[in-house]
Amino acid sequence: MPRWERWEQFKRQIFARRRHAKPKIMSEAAVKSTTTTVVKSFASTNVKASSPSAAQAASGSRTTTKKFSHTSDYKQILNRLKVDFEKRYNNVKASTDGGLQDYDVLKTLGTGAFGVVKLIRKKNTEEYSALKILSKEKIVRHKQLQHTANEKRILQSVEFPFLVNMECCFKDNSFIYLVMPFVCGGEMFALLRKSKRFGEEQAKFYGAQVALAIEYLHHMNLIYRDLKPENILIDTKGYVKITDFGFCKLIRDRTWTLCGTPEYLAPEIIQSKGYGKSVDWWSFGILLYEMAAGYTPFYTSSSDHMVLFEKICKGKFRFPAGFGSDLKHLVQNILHADLTRRFGNLKNGANDIKQHVWFRGTNWIGLMNVEVPAPFIPKVSGPGDTSQFDVYDEQDLKVASKCMFIKEFADF
Ligand SMILES: Nc1ncnc2c1ncn2[C@@H]1O[C@H](COP(=O)(O)OP(=O)(O)OP(=O)(O)O)[C@@H](O)[C@H]1O
Ligand SMILES: [Mg+2]
Repeated sequence: MPRWERWEQFKRQIFARRRHAKPKIMSEAAVKSTTTTVVKSFASTNVKASSPSAAQAASGSRTTTKKFSHTSDYKQILNRLKVDFEKRYNNVKASTDGGLQDYDVLKTLGTGAFGVVKLIRKKNTEEYSALKILSKEKIVRHKQLQHTANEKRILQSVEFPFLVNMECCFKDNSFIYLVMPFVCGGEMFALLRKSKRFGEEQAKFYGAQVALAIEYLHHMNLIYRDLKPENILIDTKGYVKITDFGFCKLIRDRTWTLCGTPEYLAPEIIQSKGYGKSVDWWSFGILLYEMAAGYTPFYTSSSDHMVLFEKICKGKFRFPAGFGSDLKHLVQNILHADLTRRFGNLKNGANDIKQHVWFRGTNWIGLMNVEVPAPFIPKVSGPGDTSQFDVYDEQDLKVASKCMFIKEFADF
């Protein structure tokens, strides 16, 4: 088989494995000690979610109309965002009185480990949203109650141009429902598969937004823990929206749970050391590499995770031809197993990455204000167009006649 054909086959395998096997790890067995997470129990204040405007929903965020000042100190901007975040975090929205009956359920957008995400339209309107449907039974069986509680609470508290957030939530006898703005441009994963790899300018455009999003999350004391192109959506303007807060968590210090996606796991997670925000910068390094190369740096054809984990811990990887020297330098300095050398994790925090020569000339505030032209605009015919998403077999939701796990989900 000619080399290029083997190469194509190799890449098809990677994508097929990642897409269909959903090789996600969430081992509670690996929890070594209680974490220092400050997750208070849900308050039962019945705050009704307000509906975002159709334009905001189409672009996938509540924040699209806010402008950030080019002259402000960025630390001050982050501090202000933190005050707002904490207000929302400490005033948790309970499930609304509304429910599935208020929406037309249209099409599956994606499937995940515990449920499915579907396009919905509010009845008698043209307002579309994405609905994440989580099975109570699966959450309990896989001991994911705390992760799901984190997901809901964080999703309703974050507000940043490159993050998806929550419009409202409700529950019924069998499921938990999280309503989010529908981001109609599809997953970065699909775009990368179609493009094979991104040119450096395109990778830089997305990478800068993801770096800002991680910096924001960390400033809120959140670790994200599941960065990968499947969780990065592209909006109508060609900008990034990160979804899936299933493993996101508020931390004060360190945490121990083995969770994430194997190819994106940092060595300190694999080695069951306590870990912190450094793991997100590691996965950011993997993402930069994957965007520019079309595959991840520690990829192995073996389906045995131990082979992959050994490679990650050894930390040896090679760059394909065509990788620019500045990008190489940045990725090398992020993918350090040694935490005292990993960019993002040093005294200067995210600034070591944002001020790296590869990002030279990046208009950071311009990006946050959606003022920078995007390298790619998804072709969508309207706010409910799902053509950028894979096609899935549609299955009807079977809601039990009796309410399941009442106690476990009392606070949702
Ligand atoms: N707001 C949204 N707009 C459009 N599509 C979305 C949205 N949120 C999620 N999706 C789609 O649904 C898929 C699954 O969602 P999500 O990642 O939140 O579920 P998950 O169960 O945590 O998945 P996994 O276990 O694979 O990480 C996403 O990869 C994406 O394709
Ligand atoms: Mg996901």
